[in-house]
Amino acid sequence: MPGAFEGETVTRRRFMNLTAQGAGAVAVATFTLPALGFALAPVFHQSPYQWQAIGPPSDFPDNIYQTKVIVLVPGIGEAGKSIAYVRSRNPAIDTEPEDKYNKWVALSSRCMHLGCPVRYVSAAQRFICPCHGGVYDFRGMVAGGPPVRPLDRFYTRLNQSTGQVEIGPRYSVNSELARFAPRDPGQPLDGIGQYLYPARFSTPGKPTG
Ligand code: FES
Repeated sequence: MPGAFEGETVTRRRFMNLTAQGAGAVAVATFTLPALGFALAPVFHQSPYQWQAIGPPSDFPDNIYQTKVIVLVPGIGEAGKSIAYVRSRNPAIDTEPEDKYNKWVALSSRCMHLGCPVRYVSAAQRFICPCHGGVYDFRGMVAGGPPVRPLDRFYTRLNQSTGQVEIGPRYSVNSELARFAPRDPGQPLDGIGQYLYPARFSTPGKPTG
């Protein structure tokens, strides 16, 4: 090798260069890796969910919604609260497959256009969004306006030991009310939409309890 003594495989200058570059790389990694980890960790951290008691089964007829305040994000006070509209499942109109998590229908009040809070108008049996005129029918299906999918829902169950109906994590539905991991407003789930708008890593999955 040019510039090397007999028997050397690397020159002293090249050795020093490599050492300096290696030390620089270690120094840069010392600063950037913790910052990267700090920034990216929440993206992969799955949010915990909690079951919240909302009342005995007798509180929820199947022909009218009850308004319940629930906590979506614990620990941040009023800002973490939202409203769910809850009624008993009615087999005459609720044709999606029944399981232990949908004996009570609990609809999110978040509009699936841009997220404004919808209001249930019992006289019309419609959910109305005040922002851009979105309308949902009694089951939360889109009946008019710009929303791209039905209202999100919450898993529900009966707590056998307390006798209380409980609300669990949110899930999204397509126009056939098939369940999907929660998506954001404005993200359609029909057809190719479910692949174009994948769920975030941080959203809780189907409950196990
Ligand atoms: S946010 Fe509800 S219609 Fe636009």
